[in-house]
Amino acid sequence: MNVIPLTPSFVAEIQEIQLDRITDSEFERLYAAWLHYGVLRIRNQDLDDEQLQAFSQRFGPLEEAPFGRMPEAEKAKIKNRFVTTLSNIKVDGKPIGGLGNDEATWHSDMTYSETPPPASLLLGIEIPDQGGDTHFADQRAALAALPAALRQRVESLSVKHNAAHTSVGKLRPGFEAFDDPRDAPGAIHPMIKTHNETGKPALYLGRREWAYIPGMTVTESDDLLDALWAYVAIKENTWTQHWQPFDLIIWDNRCVMHRRDGFDQNSRRYMRRCQVLPRHAV
Ligand code: OGA
Ligand code: MN
Repeated sequence: MNVIPLTPSFVAEIQEIQLDRITDSEFERLYAAWLHYGVLRIRNQDLDDEQLQAFSQRFGPLEEAPFGRMPEAEKAKIKNRFVTTLSNIKVDGKPIGGLGNDEATWHSDMTYSETPPPASLLLGIEIPDQGGDTHFADQRAALAALPAALRQRVESLSVKHNAAHTSVGKLRPGFEAFDDPRDAPGAIHPMIKTHNETGKPALYLGRREWAYIPGMTVTESDDLLDALWAYVAIKENTWTQHWQPFDLIIWDNRCVMHRRDGFDQNSRRYMRRCQVLPRHAV
């Protein structure tokens, strides 16, 4: 097993590894590399759901997909509750997975919950010829890039992370629309997150849309958030994943953001996905 940096400090590729038969000592090295970098890519992993689940579980217990509104009869048909689908494909007019073909804006996963997932794992199965790239941005580097005065300002501030909309801007089931960010529902987290495993600080903004800094007027909040967002995805702190079938990407939501390009609805994109629960959530 080899760890090959794809950027100087935040993305690495793991080569010479088969994840369905990874040994404990190989996993230890892979996990250490993931903590160190924040994003790992492993190519040529033709894993079925059980294999993807088994590998993902090495990072910690998995989150069960939210099937809340699905009728019991539909739920019973689901073979694996820990592996979810992202796709634009429709069967009988119904989407088979989340996010469709739209562009997704910069975000970390589910930071609007009190206990956001540390790791997300995404396996590409069918990939469009064009579009659908996924971009990553290092938030330790974003924090380091802040001018001193701006950094000092955010040191004691928190931000409210909007739970109501997906990263493609759609209202989630069960949420009401609103037009004032103060009305957005969601968890409040400090703007600087100290990573609970590495101890490294990172800028922790979640997503721009409907974010709000408690205690400020909406204008003050928007102005400060815009000033901070200018540093979130500086080119030298970002990296783009141009997917090949059977690429697996594992990212650390505590210190990395991601976004996805849109793509033609007439092409097919089909991804399998697992999400790890925070250790204190179980
Ligand atoms: C996700 C996500 C991006 C993509 O899985 O959390 O944002 O490339 N996906 O589909
Ligand atoms: Mn995401």
